[in-house]
Amino acid sequence: MMEEQIIAKNKQYWDEHADLWFGTTALPKFGVKFVTEDDLHFFSDVEGKKVLEICCGSGHSLKYLADKGAGELWGLDLSQKQLDNAGKLLRECGCNPKLICAPMEAESDIPQDYFDYVYSIYGIGWTTDLEGTFKRIASYLKKGGIFIFSWGHPLHYCVAKSYETGEDIVDNGALVLSRSYFDESYFKMPVHDTTVTFANRKISTYVNALYDAGFIIEKMIEQTDEESLANTEDNSPKAQKAKMVPLSMCFKCRKL
Ligand SMILES: C[S@@+](CC[C@H](N)C(=O)[O-])C[C@H]1O[C@@H](n2cnc3c(N)ncnc32)[C@H](O)[C@@H]1O
Repeated sequence: MMEEQIIAKNKQYWDEHADLWFGTTALPKFGVKFVTEDDLHFFSDVEGKKVLEICCGSGHSLKYLADKGAGELWGLDLSQKQLDNAGKLLRECGCNPKLICAPMEAESDIPQDYFDYVYSIYGIGWTTDLEGTFKRIASYLKKGGIFIFSWGHPLHYCVAKSYETGEDIVDNGALVLSRSYFDESYFKMPVHDTTVTFANRKISTYVNALYDAGFIIEKMIEQTDEESLANTEDNSPKAQKAKMVPLSMCFKCRKL
C-alpha cells in the first residue's frame, strides 16, 4: 500500500513538472554534468536494434539512439505528460515510437525476449521494487541483450539534504554524512515546491539484484561533477563534496 501511494505521489510530481525536465537528463549524458556516451561507448552497435527505455521521460535519449540508427524505439514511463512530450518530440523528428504509460514495477504489454537494449537514464532509482523491476527488464531482453542504467550514487544521497541547501556538508574539510549508507528506507527529497520519495540503496543491493535477475555486470562507472573537479578555485561545499565522493553511477550489464 505504501508503495502504491509513493508511486501515485511521484506520478503527480512528474505530471505537474514534466516541462521543467524537458531534455535535462538524457543521452548522450548519463546524468546532468556527468559522463557521456562519447566517453563510455556503452551503446556501441545500436544500428537496426530494438531499444526500450525505462522511465523515458521527454524522449530525448530515444531521439539520440534514433539518430544513431536504432531500428525500433520503445519507451515506458509513469507520467502521461512526459509521454505526451516524448511523443511530440519524436514524431516531429519522423520517428514512430511505441510509448507505454505504466509504472516500471507493473506488468505491461511490453514483449518478452524481444529487445537488444533496455536502458534507463536516472530512472531506475524511482522503483519501489528493485528486484522485481530488474527481473521484468531481464524478461524483456533477448538472451545476450544489454541493460544499461545510470542513477545517483548512494554516497551522494547520504549527503543529499545538505547538497540541496548547500549547508553543512563540510566541517573543517571533512564531509558530513546526514544519512547512513546502510539506511534503505524511503525518504522525501525536496524538489521545486514539493517532495518526491524514493529509497537510497547500497551498491551491494544493486549488484545482488542484478545477479538474481540473471545479469552479469560488464562495467560499472562511478562519476562526479567534472566541472567542479576541473575548477580548482571553487571551494564551495558543493564543489568540495564533488571532489570527495562519486555523485553518479552507471552500470552496463548483459542478460545471460
Ligand atoms: C529524471 S526523469 C528521467 C528522464 C529521462 N531520462 C529523460 O530523458 O527525460 C525520471 C522519469 O522517471 C519516471 N518515473 C518515476 N517513477 C516511475 C515509475 N515507478 N515507473 C515508471 N516511470 C517512473 C518519471 O515520470 C520521469 O519521467
